[in-house]
Amino acid sequence: MTRAERAPVKIGIAGLGRLGKRHATNLAYRVPGAVLAAACSPVEQERDWARETLPSARLYSDYEALLADRELDALWLVTPSSLHAEQIAAALRAGKHVFCEKPLSLDVAECERVLGVAREYPQLEAMIGFMRRFDPSYRDAYEKASAGAIGRAFMVRSQTTDLNDPDGFFVRFAPTSGGIFLDCTVHDIDVARWFFDGARATRAFATGVIALHEGLRACADVDNGVGVVEFEGGRLAVFYASRTMAHGCDTQSEVIGTGGALAIGHNPRRNRVEIYEAGGVRSESTPTFFDRFEEAFLHEAQAFVQNVCARRAGTTSAGSAASAGAMLADALEATRIGHALRHAFATGLPVTL
Ligand SMILES: NC(=O)c1ccc[n+]([C@@H]2O[C@H](COP(=O)([O-])OP(=O)(O)OC[C@H]3O[C@@H](n4cnc5c(N)ncnc54)[C@H](O)[C@@H]3O)[C@@H](O)[C@H]2O)c1
Repeated sequence: MTRAERAPVKIGIAGLGRLGKRHATNLAYRVPGAVLAAACSPVEQERDWARETLPSARLYSDYEALLADRELDALWLVTPSSLHAEQIAAALRAGKHVFCEKPLSLDVAECERVLGVAREYPQLEAMIGFMRRFDPSYRDAYEKASAGAIGRAFMVRSQTTDLNDPDGFFVRFAPTSGGIFLDCTVHDIDVARWFFDGARATRAFATGVIALHEGLRACADVDNGVGVVEFEGGRLAVFYASRTMAHGCDTQSEVIGTGGALAIGHNPRRNRVEIYEAGGVRSESTPTFFDRFEEAFLHEAQAFVQNVCARRAGTTSAGSAASAGAMLADALEATRIGHALRHAFATGLPVTL
C-alpha cells in the first residue's frame, strides 16, 4: 500500500442539526482512517457547538466554501432533504467522494440527474444513508436469507414508527420532509428492495390517517400511513409508518420466505433489563431512532471510509456490492416507490410503476 493510500480520508461535514451532530462526533472520534477536517452550518449556534466539540475542524458558514476546501477528500451531507441532490452533484463535480443522508431527493427527475452526474465520476464513492443495511441484526438476517435459510423470500412486512413527539417537531418539518412515505417508509422500501435483490416494483397502494397531529392536514400529510407494494417475481411488501407511538421507536421488519421467516427487531427493548412489578414484568423501550440504530450509523461511516480507501488502492470499482451500502441507483428506486405511495395516498388509487 502506498503512502497516499494509507493517508487518512479527510472529510468535511455539512449540516450539524439533530442528526448531523451525531454523524460529526462519530467521524471525529470513532472511525479509524477518517479525519473530520471541516464542518459547515449556516447556523451560528451550530458552529459554536462545533468549535467546542470538534476543535480540529475548520468551520464554514456556507456550502460553497466547504466545496472549495482543497484538502478535503470527501463530503458528508446531513442537510435538509430538499438540498441533497444539488449538493451531491456539486460535491462530485468538485472531485469529492460523497456520503449523503436519505433520501437522495424528494423528486424522481432530480435523482436521475444526480445519477447522470455520478456517471461522469465513476472513480468517486457516492453512498446514501440507508443505515439499516449496517445494523448488525438486519445484516445478520440478510446474510441468513442470502444463504437460503428461508427459501425464496416473497414477502416483507416492515415498519418505521417513532415515539410521539407532543412538541410536533415533525409537523414543522412536514412542509419539506416529503411526507411520511418519502421520509419514513423510504427506509422500509430500501429494506424490501435489499432482501428482494433489487427487484423492480410494479404497483403501489397507500392509505393513512391523522391520529393526533391535525397540523399535518395543511400539507396533506398523515401521522400514520400504510403502503402495499407489488414487486416483479410475485413478491409483496407491506409498510407501516407512524409518528405517534406511545411506547418508543418501534422500527422492525419481517421477511417471509417459502421455507421460513426472519423477524428483525421485534420487541423494541432498550436493553436487557426486565422490571418485575405488581402489575407484571416489563422492559423499557428504545426512545429514538438514534438509540435504536447507533451502531448502524457508526458501521455505515466505517464502511464509507473503507470504501474510499479501497478505491484509492484500486481494489473496488464503482457500485461494487462489496460496499454493502445503498448506492445512488438504490436511492433513486426508493424515491420512485416512495413517490408512488405518496401519489396513491393522495388520489386513493393504485399507482402502476
Ligand atoms: N437515517 C435516518 O434514519 C435519518 C434520521 C433523521 C434524519 N435523517 C435525514 O438527515 C437529514 C437532516 O435531518 P435533521 O433531522 O438532522 O435536520 P435538521 O434540520 O436538524 O438539520 C439540518 C442541518 O442542515 C443545516 N443546513 C441547512 N441549510 C444548509 C446549507 N445550505 N448548507 C449546509 N448546511 C445547511 C442546518 O443548519 C442544520 O444543521 C434529512 O435529510 C433527514 O431526512 C435521516
